[in-house]
Amino acid sequence: MTVPPLIVAPSILAADFARLADEVRAVEHAADWLHVDVMDNHFVPNLTIGLPVVQSLRAATELPFDVHLMIEDPRRWAPGYADAGAYNVTFHAEACDDPVALAKDLRSAGAKAGLAIDRDTPIEPYLDLLPSFDTLLIMTIKAGFGGQRFIPHLLDKVRAARRHVASGHLELRIEVDGGIAADTIEQAAAAGADAFVAGTAVYGADDPAEAVRRLRGLAERAATGA
Ligand code: DX5
Ligand code: ZN
Repeated sequence: MTVPPLIVAPSILAADFARLADEVRAVEHAADWLHVDVMDNHFVPNLTIGLPVVQSLRAATELPFDVHLMIEDPRRWAPGYADAGAYNVTFHAEACDDPVALAKDLRSAGAKAGLAIDRDTPIEPYLDLLPSFDTLLIMTIKAGFGGQRFIPHLLDKVRAARRHVASGHLELRIEVDGGIAADTIEQAAAAGADAFVAGTAVYGADDPAEAVRRLRGLAERAATGA
């Protein structure tokens, strides 16, 4: 499998939940990953979907699943998503007292391991843990709801992470999530993100696949400085 330089991951949080399989197929040939937001009404106030939906959806598409767990007690639940065939399972630093141990569990269950950093959490305490992870998800909003406004200064965390990854020669994707759209993706790419979650900007568009392609084009140009 060749690794694309940039990843665009539509978030099904903004899709029509009554037609989930169709909504996923609408981006099947345009997207790189499918971003699946799992919320438990405890770690965040919102409640979305859980393992049974992910298991059913797994059979409906070839897209790799990028599962974003906004839940308490991820050590209890996260490996189940790896077992269900998720490509990458991301849990929140704020919800886990031993992120490295859980990353190991996820990798041994056959998934990539992701660490998410919410709006009010500094990145510095987590930089030394990054060799244990495959993806780092930096929230560009407060986790919990789609359709919020992008917060530009949170890209300082992306810049810090990118510098750390470069100096340590780490293999790590830096993913941004929240308010990513045509008017914000270029600044995120220029800051060093190489994976982009977009909910409203994809599923709010008339043609979701075209929206994904447009976002990718903008990010690629900004990343190469063209
Ligand atoms: C929110 C979720 C996001 C959400 C992004 O906590 O993690 O993935 O779907 O939605 P937009 O792109 O609309 O900001
Ligand atoms: Zn998300």
